[in-house]
Amino acid sequence: MSDNTTEKGTFTLTNNATGESFDLPVYGGTHGPDVIDIRKLYAETKHFTFDPSFTATASCKSRLTFIDGEQGILMHRGYTIEDLTDKASFLEVAYLLLYGDLPNEERKAWFEKEITYHTMVHEQINYFFSGFRRDAHPMAIMCGVIGGLSAFYHDSLDINCPEQREISAHRLIAKVSTLAAMTYKYTIGQPFMYPRNDLNFAENFLYMCFGVPAEPYVVNPVVAKAMDKILTLHADHEQNASTSTVRLAGSSQANPFACIAAGIASLWGASHGGANQAVLEMLAEIGSKDRIPEFIERAKDKDDPFRLMGFGHRVYKNMDPRAGVLKQSAHDVLEDLGVTDDPLLEIAIELEKIALEDEYFVQRKLFPNVDFYSGIILKAMGFPTSMFTVLFAVARTVGWISQWKEMIEEPALRIGRPRQLYTGPAKRDFVDLKDRD
Ligand code: SDX
Repeated sequence: MSDNTTEKGTFTLTNNATGESFDLPVYGGTHGPDVIDIRKLYAETKHFTFDPSFTATASCKSRLTFIDGEQGILMHRGYTIEDLTDKASFLEVAYLLLYGDLPNEERKAWFEKEITYHTMVHEQINYFFSGFRRDAHPMAIMCGVIGGLSAFYHDSLDINCPEQREISAHRLIAKVSTLAAMTYKYTIGQPFMYPRNDLNFAENFLYMCFGVPAEPYVVNPVVAKAMDKILTLHADHEQNASTSTVRLAGSSQANPFACIAAGIASLWGASHGGANQAVLEMLAEIGSKDRIPEFIERAKDKDDPFRLMGFGHRVYKNMDPRAGVLKQSAHDVLEDLGVTDDPLLEIAIELEKIALEDEYFVQRKLFPNVDFYSGIILKAMGFPTSMFTVLFAVARTVGWISQWKEMIEEPALRIGRPRQLYTGPAKRDFVDLKDRD
């Protein structure tokens, strides 16, 4: 696999207090900003860098995904997200992320069969669910059940064995979708539906979620295509919070099942993958177009914790390209389902229009992100808002395990160990209990 790293000279760092200068190497990649290599900075200057939320820190090299936040571009292995959602299936994109290129006919058939034949889970996993309350949040159940998967696959926990890494990746991509469907069924009190090998990935997921033993389930091709597209749009996204969580967990040589469970936990946050649920709750709270100005003002009020959910992004300072694809898909799905006047979609479209004309959002380059429209489609498909982040996790498992695999296959895997700026109390003598105030 080509690594397009090029040496681009040096940056000279000068300590004005001592007059010392240090030359730091600069590297360039295929696209995006060059990087200053600070790996020797502490050894040479006895200083750390300080970047608490990693706004200016490249944590790794990666060949998987590239985002140009200014231009609103998202690519996987060089292919734009628009082309991939329009011309490839989710499993083709999964193959692309895992193996580096789109599959040919033979490899596509092989990979689809591999994933299909790993969708069933061990029967004992069913008992995990019965320990949860029926009203548990689906993401809480997913954290527990995915974390428990490593207890079932002792034959694929050796991260230094390429074959075991590959089967773990296939098992996780396949089984997370089955476990997500089982989570949904458990929370609504319906029986689990075993996967079907005659359906493709998206169709099978919809079947396991909405099928019932009492009658045949007919897959709606428009809904299945929209589901497949939503999965592709959520597959991978550079070094976001949950992917960085998976990489850090993996750097300690934790097994891949435990790493994906860590990623699920991180994704759950409302600032990250939990935002799609929060968007629907926000739209429902707004309730009507005439209340939009009130909420726009609240979003701008620093004393009000309310933020416009589904708006803004750490990297995109332009429209999130995924939001554009989802906005069109929302119209297609709602039209096909005969939902012509969804009040939440109407409010979302009006909210986007007003926000994008408001100086506060324009000046801060706050645009709709992937979560702004996804929930509207998922709700129209019949999913409760509490399942939205679970669906995000089904898709992002592909990115997480691909990023994990890329990291583990790096020549020199080292445990991630950030440092800090210590601002606590200086050294002091111990105070016996009798002498304390
Ligand atoms: C995802 O990283 C990824 O790639 C994530 C993701 C992926 O695929 O993995 O794309 C998925 O997580 C999408 C984001 C989903 N989250 C939301 O929609 C929640 C709402 N958005 C915000 O919480 C926020 O925009 C973040 C968390 C997404 C980004 O936060 P940043 O980069 O830390 O932005 P910031 O807090 O520095 O904001 C800059 C300014 C601030 O105002 P000032 O201090 O300059 O006056 O913009 C304001 C913020 O207050 N701001 C918002 C806002 N988002 C930022 N104001 C109102 N509403 C918002 N949504």
